Amino acid sequence: MKKVILSGMRPTGIMHVGHLHGALLNWAGFQDTYTCYFFIADWHALTTEYEDPSVIRESKIDMIIDWMAIGLDPGRCTFFVQSQIKEHAELHLLLSMIVPLPWLERNPTYKEQLRELKTRDLYTYGFLGYPVLQAADILIYKANGVPVGEDQAAHVELTREIARRFNYLYGEVFPIPEVLLTKTSKLLGIDRRKMSKSLNNAIFLRDAPETIRSKVSEMITDPQRARRSDPGDPSVCNVYSFHELYSPYSKVVEIGEACRTAKIGCVECKGIMAQNLIEGLAPIREKALELESKKGEIEEILQEGNRRAREVAQRTMEEVRAKLNL
Ligand code: TRP
Ligand code: SF4
Repeated sequence: MKKVILSGMRPTGIMHVGHLHGALLNWAGFQDTYTCYFFIADWHALTTEYEDPSVIRESKIDMIIDWMAIGLDPGRCTFFVQSQIKEHAELHLLLSMIVPLPWLERNPTYKEQLRELKTRDLYTYGFLGYPVLQAADILIYKANGVPVGEDQAAHVELTREIARRFNYLYGEVFPIPEVLLTKTSKLLGIDRRKMSKSLNNAIFLRDAPETIRSKVSEMITDPQRARRSDPGDPSVCNVYSFHELYSPYSKVVEIGEACRTAKIGCVECKGIMAQNLIEGLAPIREKALELESKKGEIEEILQEGNRRAREVAQRTMEEVRAKLNL
């Protein structure tokens, strides 16, 4: 039996290069070797977007389009939408009975988000239970590995604790999933903060060449390099991080050297990077534009994925119910 890999993303709209290098390419690397489930965590999105769920609905197809455009293949992995597999909700409920409240209250992500997301009232039952729902997502497919970024690692750790507790109380049902930590992407937004759609600093996979050129021209470079004649430090420059991923190796070396000796200016450097980025993203963009005109087919792919996922989730729930024997 192949090992099972599962990961999810909250629906936030079209994907940007941060998603590509921080998650999606890593996901794609698993699809030949493992049984893979990749899903849209719309209930998780609802924990913060409950006042206006319309954004959630609109994002789903766009995300699948981008996932397929970067090479995730619905023939080799299963895509599904969390809210379409009601069994997640039942498992979430059952797990909630055995999760001690302090496990949730001391969750670092929870505390941080309560502090930071001041524009929303997150003092809800659902938001506190976010990791319990995530545990249900993972355990219901008996996942062996969960590829996630640093920010989600604590949630998967908690899933392991929850699985152990369930198995101890009622008997072995769940394998203990491994955290497969994804290196966080070095690519920052054009303003040098974390790349994010809501911060308006993202380069999207489907951006047109002109848009990419203009965004790149606005990028903040080495903040210490005030004048063209000042030497720069590529290791702190976000433009350089893009070069490292999108320019040929010899060019990357040459630009690093030229930057450190002020032989190249940022305007020229950005021009070269923008061109390589445009060419690097072109096949993804083309594929995405092609898929945009086939939304019906994407819809069917999702239906089929939902069906496959539901079958597995139903089987696990039969086992779970038998163990509880209510
Ligand atoms: N919480 C994850 C995020 O915000 C999304 C998610 C929900 C997830 N359920 C999951 C990720 C299960 C991995 C496994 O990115
Ligand atoms: Fe960054 Fe290039 Fe400017 Fe150096 S020359 S600081 S690498 S943009």
